[in-house]
Amino acid sequence: MAFTKQAILAGAAMLLALGAAAAQDVKIGFIVKQPEEPWFQDEWKFAQAAAKEKGFTLVEIGAEDGEKVQAAIDNLGAQGAQGFVICTPDVKLGPGIVAKAAANDLKVMTVDDRLMDNAGQPIETVPHMGISATKIGETVGQGIVDEIKKRGWDMAKVGAIKVSYDQLPTAVDRVAGATSVLEKSGFPAANIFNAPQAKTDTEAALNAATTVVNAHPDIQHWVAVGLNDEAVLGAVRATEGVGIPAANVIGVGIGGAESAINEFKKPTDTGFFGTVIISPKRHGYETASNMYDWIANGREPDKLILTSGELATRADYAKVRKDLGIE
Ligand code: GLA
Repeated sequence: MAFTKQAILAGAAMLLALGAAAAQDVKIGFIVKQPEEPWFQDEWKFAQAAAKEKGFTLVEIGAEDGEKVQAAIDNLGAQGAQGFVICTPDVKLGPGIVAKAAANDLKVMTVDDRLMDNAGQPIETVPHMGISATKIGETVGQGIVDEIKKRGWDMAKVGAIKVSYDQLPTAVDRVAGATSVLEKSGFPAANIFNAPQAKTDTEAALNAATTVVNAHPDIQHWVAVGLNDEAVLGAVRATEGVGIPAANVIGVGIGGAESAINEFKKPTDTGFFGTVIISPKRHGYETASNMYDWIANGREPDKLILTSGELATRADYAKVRKDLGIE
């Protein structure tokens, strides 16, 4: 049987219409552990941009603990969602999250923090997008070393505040990357002081770092590293709290979202010297788009995508953000 041109066109139109209807029916959850943190707000913003562009619905959910995560997943199931992207409040929830997703017939992928199994190994079956933690940590360390040299400080007398959060592997890798470069560059390992934070926010980092600076009143020059901008800002606030001048402090964070930008916009310099800007656009837009593609077109996302970062200071952060397409 020969198809007329009209019949083929009508068929194509019907397929297009079907495609559009399918997009409208797609509902994706985007669950984050710390909804008040600017990084996660930016991720949501870019995920919403993907939803708008492709025509699906994106449900933003903040879940600060395991119970909220469970409730969020059940809720998405009840709402008829088909999948979700999650940055979990605790990577040890891994097996529970995978089981809950399966019970609700939801596809799952992770962003930022990778799920761990009961043996403490990453759950490799769940597609993940995170930052290249060690490399980005090394960029932090190099930025600090370069600035120490520029300021002509005696490396042997500088102290380092290492704000740590060891239950999160990406946090361990980030700070280890930073301190490894410090040590390789001649920074005395004995002068790197651990400041374990109870939570990953500025207040917890301030508390942890205050203990360190108070314990070493003889040290005049400080550098600070941590998981993210909030951690390093906490350390910088701790140095201010004991009256150390901004010129004696070099803190370099990771993130480059509003917390860092607000600091750069202050009329006078603070000890927050720079940040390695990472891309909430990639983490938000791309993960949401990849989930959509998985649901609508059966294309499963890559199992592991690691994104990069770029050092920026007060002087050039606007340009770096622009180059990354995240202004
Ligand atoms: C972790 C941190 C966030 C942010 C992301 C980036 O989740 O807690 O502040 O740095 O990683 O991947």
